[in-house]
Amino acid sequence: MIHPKPRPAHTAALTVVLLASVATFCAQAAEPSAPMALRNIMAQLGRDIQAVAGGISTEDWTLVARLAPDIARHPEPPPSEKMRILGWLGTDAGRFRGFDGEVHDAAVAMGEAATRGDGQAVITAFAKVQQGCLACHQSFRKPFTEHFYGVR
Ligand code: HEC
Repeated sequence: MIHPKPRPAHTAALTVVLLASVATFCAQAAEPSAPMALRNIMAQLGRDIQAVAGGISTEDWTLVARLAPDIARHPEPPPSEKMRILGWLGTDAGRFRGFDGEVHDAAVAMGEAATRGDGQAVITAFAKVQQGCLACHQSFRKPFTEHFYGVR
């Protein structure tokens, strides 16, 4: 009598492993569509910086003084996203944070200058804020979007 060959246990195990990797792959492939919280934070920073530029052109130091703290103390991404970003940054985390610190300090100085009504100092600090934005974007923005969204 011929018995059908019993299905070896390891085949079943292999199938499970394969299915698991397919699931992982699909999860990773779906990732690019999920926008990072950082993107919204950045979009808000972009609007704030534009509003500040508007305030400077109309010499509305009250407006600049009101907006500067929003730039200095912009929200942070939720802890889980922060961990992902820090994990990706690795040894570059210090440099990334350094640029954020430059923006923070310059925005604080800009707010203080605006409160004093010192237009020259506002403009000097404003330039420093934008240098901080630009420096971080030049170093990290492209690799960030490539890594987290898979776009080039
Ligand atoms: C510490 C690094 C860092 C600093 C400092 C920084 N950015 Fe960004 N910014 C990023 C990264 C990374 C992205 C890409 C985020 C993404 O696409 O999800 C980005 C994206 C942006 C975007 C595009 C958002 C969108 O909708 O695609 C704007 C606008 C922006 N930043 C404005 C600013 C402004 C204004 C400042 C300074 C006040 C600033 N950023 C400072 C890292 C930084």
